[in-house]
Amino acid sequence: MTDNPVQDTFAFIIHPIDPKKDVSRKWPWLGKVLTRRQVDFFSLFFPPVYISEITGIRSTDTGQELHGWFWACPFTPQRMMSLPVDRVYDKIIATCQKARGLGARIVGLGAFTSVVGDAGITIARALDVAVTTGDSYTIEMAVEAVRQAARSMDIPMAEARAAVVGATGTIGGVCAELLAEEVADLILVGRRPDALEAVRERCQDGARAALRTSTDLASIYDADLVITVSSAISTIIEPQHLKPGAVVCDVARPRDVSKVVAAERDDVLVIEGGMVAVPGEVNFHFDFGFPPRMAYACMAETMALALEGRYENFSLGKRITREQVREISAIASRHGFRLGYFRSFERGPVTPEQIALVREQAAVTRRHWAPKLS
Ligand SMILES: NC(=O)c1ccc[n+]([C@@H]2O[C@H](COP(=O)([O-])OP(=O)(O)OC[C@H]3O[C@@H](n4cnc5c(N)ncnc54)[C@H](OP(=O)(O)O)[C@@H]3O)[C@@H](O)[C@H]2O)c1
Repeated sequence: MTDNPVQDTFAFIIHPIDPKKDVSRKWPWLGKVLTRRQVDFFSLFFPPVYISEITGIRSTDTGQELHGWFWACPFTPQRMMSLPVDRVYDKIIATCQKARGLGARIVGLGAFTSVVGDAGITIARALDVAVTTGDSYTIEMAVEAVRQAARSMDIPMAEARAAVVGATGTIGGVCAELLAEEVADLILVGRRPDALEAVRERCQDGARAALRTSTDLASIYDADLVITVSSAISTIIEPQHLKPGAVVCDVARPRDVSKVVAAERDDVLVIEGGMVAVPGEVNFHFDFGFPPRMAYACMAETMALALEGRYENFSLGKRITREQVREISAIASRHGFRLGYFRSFERGPVTPEQIALVREQAAVTRRHWAPKLS
């Protein structure tokens, strides 16, 4: 696999989110016999897990082909948030070293492996391979998904009231800065008033939106557009939080939006943050449950940097800038990456017919809807 040392290569680190389901994807029999608690417990002792080889990614700009690998850090989000952070770092570093051993020249940290501790800085220092969290392109694709979903729901961005839940976070903060440039009103929702105030100040630079902050999730009740991107390990957005016709882009993994919303609210459009169409005939040799050629934006950032030959740390740490977002967007778009499709509650694509039904239903419920304020 390392015959050609100058080949463009990358690896991406994933981890189980739904322990039983995700273990079944790799070992169907183990997924059947072990309970959720047992999977969670045994994950403590598991070594890094080789998942698959990734072939067929090809830049539309240079024709360059890219080779990669998925490796899994066996810890679940619950484990990563409850173990001492050094122990989690060690496991993630060990996983990255395995990928490095196969020849990866840049490693992307997926989902919670990019959230723990200082968001990749300590991990990158311990490795002699470039590292990125993928957060910059995740931000761009989340905002782009909101723009496209707003258009499909006939919500003009310039007149919209938007909210960002998890606005004090790495991804949420910059999503807020970008939305503030485009919408009429923006509500920044978080748990810490001081940190929210700091984000509000950052958003003021170039803002057209009137800005306000809130520590109460109920304050999103009048938002037309919501980006939710908390690192909560269970869902936080419930049916009563959303107004009819709202667009919600759930970037969090695990999801922020409760499944009850899917069951009870056919008048809101909930989409997952940025699914990206990858250029070339990509084969992940692993079933993520996505349609062919689709990847998460954070995976796409790692691939795009490798195609660009940028084997250097890119998105690291808790403070990403708008400039980084614009830079990775230009790189990714040059190599042929595009916003892919709308996925909702792990299913998709969401069709134009389904969106039309949401709009019709919203027109009905709007007549008798009243917010439930806490
Ligand atoms: N879809 C993708 O491609 C992709 C890529 C990367 C990451 N992600 C996901 O994005 C999410 C956020 O990542 P990040 O790097 O921005 O994390 P982060 O920097 O740690 O920020 C997390 C934010 O969530 C808030 N939060 C945490 N627990 C909460 C709770 N129980 N209730 C309400 N708010 C809570 C935090 O508030 P405080 O400031 O008060 O702590 C903070 O604002 C994670 O779920 C991650 O897996 C997705």
